[in-house]
Amino acid sequence: MLALRPARVRGGAANLADALGARRAFRQAPTNLDEAYDFVADFEYGQLRTRPFQIRQEMLQFLARLAEDPPRSIIELGTAYGGTLFLLACIAMPDATIVTIDMPAGPFGGGYPRTHAPLYKSFARDKQRIRLIRSDSHSPDTLKAVRETVGTTVDLLFIDADHTYEGVRSDFETYSPLVCSGGLIAFHDIVDGPPEAVGGVPRFWKELRERMPGEEIVADWSQGGYGIGLIRKDAHTLPTGTGTRGNADSTHG
Ligand SMILES: C[S@@+](CC[C@H](N)C(=O)[O-])C[C@H]1O[C@@H](n2cnc3c(N)ncnc32)[C@H](O)[C@@H]1O
Repeated sequence: MLALRPARVRGGAANLADALGARRAFRQAPTNLDEAYDFVADFEYGQLRTRPFQIRQEMLQFLARLAEDPPRSIIELGTAYGGTLFLLACIAMPDATIVTIDMPAGPFGGGYPRTHAPLYKSFARDKQRIRLIRSDSHSPDTLKAVRETVGTTVDLLFIDADHTYEGVRSDFETYSPLVCSGGLIAFHDIVDGPPEAVGGVPRFWKELRERMPGEEIVADWSQGGYGIGLIRKDAHTLPTGTGTRGNADSTHG
């Protein structure tokens, strides 16, 4: 199983020189999704490492789904070692805006050093724009900064930050109203597993599924954690942002 839990990742001592060297190396990154996954999962430059904290098969299936109708605006909660950020940039529209939030030393992964920023921003390709926000997703200032970047409507919300029950619920309640009608809300770690890894996400996901239709991308229900839950937003299930899919102008603030 090609997956790593945050606690097993090292590399916090990376300096700016490592980040700049890594940025040069990433210019050669493959664009094919399978190869891109392996590239970002195995990447090391000096003390700097990148990693998705995902199961390869699940993430590739999720990305393939997204690639059918690529998002033009994305909010990612939980940047960590840049793995999912890089992959989301690979499948997003060439002019996409991506906001990714992580809190320094946050639980369930530990955030990332400020020196990683030049590398993460360089994941933007063509006319994409990546904004890194290093703060608590639950803070009103963070929501304000997100709104300043994406306006009132996004196509994809990926929730993979504070895994406590209250934390994931708060992230859902705070950011899901920004998702447009037809947009997607994705949760990572919906499968029951070690509490220190999945927190209250499986419980929150089960409750949500009782209220609305969803889809589960799970390699094996006995794998202990991981798994991606997807909800397609529509006006009948949840209050939506002001736009609909394909309404590009409304996605930029
Ligand atoms: C599981 S990791 C994210 C993994 C990443 N999505 C990937 O697979 O490449 C979770 C991250 O969420 C961050 N986090 C936890 N609580 C947070 C909060 N309240 N606000 C912002 N980030 C938070 C942690 O610092 C950690 O780096």
